[in-house]
Amino acid sequence: MRTRVEELLSAMTLEEKAGQLTQYFSFGLHEDDAAVGPSPQRPGEVEDALARGGAGSLLFVTDPAETNRLQRRAVEGSRHGIPLLFGFDVIHGLRTIFPVPIAMAASWDPATMERGQAVAAREARAVGIHWTFAPMVDVARDPRWGRIVEGAGEDPHLGAAVAAAQVRGFQGERLGAPERIIAGPKHFAGYGAALGGRDYDEVDLSDAQLWNVYLPPFEAAVAAGAGNVMTAYMPLNGVPATANRWLLVEVLREQWGFEGFLVSDANAVRNLVTHGFAADPTDAAARAAGAGLDLEMAMTDPAYAHLPEAVASGAVSVEAVDACVRRVLEAKLRLGLFESPYVDEERARAVLADPAHREAAREAAQRSAVLLRNEAVAGAPLLPLDPARLGSVAVLGPLADSRRDTLGPWVFDVDLDETVTVLQGLRTRLGEAVQVRCAPGVRPAQRLFPSIFDAFPGNTPPDPEGFDDEAELARAVDLAREADVAVVVLGEWQHMIGEAASRSSLELPGRQLELLQAVVATGTPVVLLLLNGRPLDLRWAVEHVPAILDVWYPGTQGGTAVADLLLGDVSPGGKLPFSWPRSVGQVPVVHSHTASHEPENQAKRYWDEASTPLFPFGFGLSYARFDHADLTLDRQSLPVGESLTASVTVTNAGDRDADEVVQLYLHQRHGTAARPVRELKGFQRVHLRAGESRTVAFTVGPEHRRYWNAAVRDVVLEASPFDVWVGGDSTAQLTATFTTTDGQAS
Ligand code: BGC
Repeated sequence: MRTRVEELLSAMTLEEKAGQLTQYFSFGLHEDDAAVGPSPQRPGEVEDALARGGAGSLLFVTDPAETNRLQRRAVEGSRHGIPLLFGFDVIHGLRTIFPVPIAMAASWDPATMERGQAVAAREARAVGIHWTFAPMVDVARDPRWGRIVEGAGEDPHLGAAVAAAQVRGFQGERLGAPERIIAGPKHFAGYGAALGGRDYDEVDLSDAQLWNVYLPPFEAAVAAGAGNVMTAYMPLNGVPATANRWLLVEVLREQWGFEGFLVSDANAVRNLVTHGFAADPTDAAARAAGAGLDLEMAMTDPAYAHLPEAVASGAVSVEAVDACVRRVLEAKLRLGLFESPYVDEERARAVLADPAHREAAREAAQRSAVLLRNEAVAGAPLLPLDPARLGSVAVLGPLADSRRDTLGPWVFDVDLDETVTVLQGLRTRLGEAVQVRCAPGVRPAQRLFPSIFDAFPGNTPPDPEGFDDEAELARAVDLAREADVAVVVLGEWQHMIGEAASRSSLELPGRQLELLQAVVATGTPVVLLLLNGRPLDLRWAVEHVPAILDVWYPGTQGGTAVADLLLGDVSPGGKLPFSWPRSVGQVPVVHSHTASHEPENQAKRYWDEASTPLFPFGFGLSYARFDHADLTLDRQSLPVGESLTASVTVTNAGDRDADEVVQLYLHQRHGTAARPVRELKGFQRVHLRAGESRTVAFTVGPEHRRYWNAAVRDVVLEASPFDVWVGGDSTAQLTATFTTTDGQAS
């Protein structure tokens, strides 16, 4: 491979090298379109670039025939016949849509995540996509930030496990494995800490936060073999991530040994000028390439077209440019693109239609749901519903029968007809014997500022004409009154979450709370079903609604899975990957805060609101009940560099088979820095039959106790007493202690 790369490199002009380092969007929009607006590119811009070897990669092509056509242009039309690398945002599926990433994280089940992304990879590779801009591994502690939906939530330990599982799922055993694609963890680094939760805003993070919270998921993704990393849009502590040599070279390549290629986020190289960082596009190109940024993702007029000029002026060396080209060519060779650049369109159709993919999506949706509340109605928990005792069900709310909103954001190439909404899922499951009636109740809420994603066909948010607000609300309430149970489906519409979808409030958008209150007032038992990607303000609901099930955006098979859950074919077993705030004013609220002054007043930090979250991190109920007992440590004292085993007996004390996520938290009592009151350091999702007990064991090693310390500006591992807690959420009470020592084991 090395020889091949060097041969190509020595035959390429500087212009061709710059071309290899350019990735163009290819929307297939060559003209202004009334529905979409002005074309982001000049007509023919991409095709012209292909013809002169001016593009090494394209993104946003998902039609296999189009992939082949464009590939042919690159292979046959350019001097060296170098194939294109096709990238795309395969975030939670391509054709078969899985639950959104935050939902997959809520499954606390790496095997489910790995399987899901393997299916996504298989579909993507079949249509000619070689590389995904996923997983997004940005830690998100501010739910105002819309992109919280794309990640794994607040915690670095869970985030690292989720990141590694997804990389394994996308890539398989090695880069270039058949039916797999390159994974590109993003956005390196710190993007989730955008000021005020405003998307793209600047990020100011302490080194301790960066090393202990925001970087571990990236390190895990790199350790799992990720072939690509995408840089973030924003400045990290003042220096734009896209030309941040410390991040890209010192941390990523030198410290972590990353050998893959780097891509910028969209237009982020040009935007180094907008940041007030680079003087002009030539300076931007020189400084990005000089910082080791291999590929520029560009909509139009790439800055990297100025690389020859930058080399000529000495602003960047030809060696630096060659190093970038080498890494891009290596990726293409590893994928075998020089040998087989094209895809089989017939086979692509068959792969996309594979029923096994739908089944995997259904199971993932079952496993990611989180039961937040399940109070007794007439002497028994409201859920699961007993079909034998149901005559009629009212399925209410604006999201109950909306296919797009069942899928959530970051879906483009879907088959909407096959998407199962909550209404459809329940109708199919309950059959003729139960009357299922539906009403939206309220009209779709609208964004104050439209989304960039509205431009994609079919994405325009609906605002039905002639919608009579009062009459529709009354109709929904009537249906509730006449039903044995009302399932009210509320949350956020597809494009109220995701990129460019931050919010200043966490309230249910539009008149949804009013609908919920009116339905509850009928006295009919209510199940609140949430379609969401961020925590919403549920303060009223937790006081008045007996059952709340969070199904996130559950994907193609969402409605089927919801029916499986509501009717008790499976028990919910997911757990929250973030602390659920009571209101937006509490943000950020995380389980791993430090004790600080007067820790006994921790819950009284505000005078007008509790400081504890509404639901703690790791929380989720089940149709079963789990006891955790007999926490034992095999060592009470050990040298700092050694490990111990913590074991606990978990019993399913309920009368249904179900899953529990057993979680282990750790606290270092004292040291050269004050450590968080608790930090997640282990978890296992286990399936237990009714009445079954099992011993669950965790290794607690030095890697779980190490942290970056601002006093010494390095990683430390300290001798101290430690508390351990094990249980079903971050408030677990079952506890034990051990001590690490500088000396020998005792
Ligand atoms: C997003 C990236 C995404 C890219 C390509 C950007 O706006 O920040 O996450 O991969 O677009 O669609």
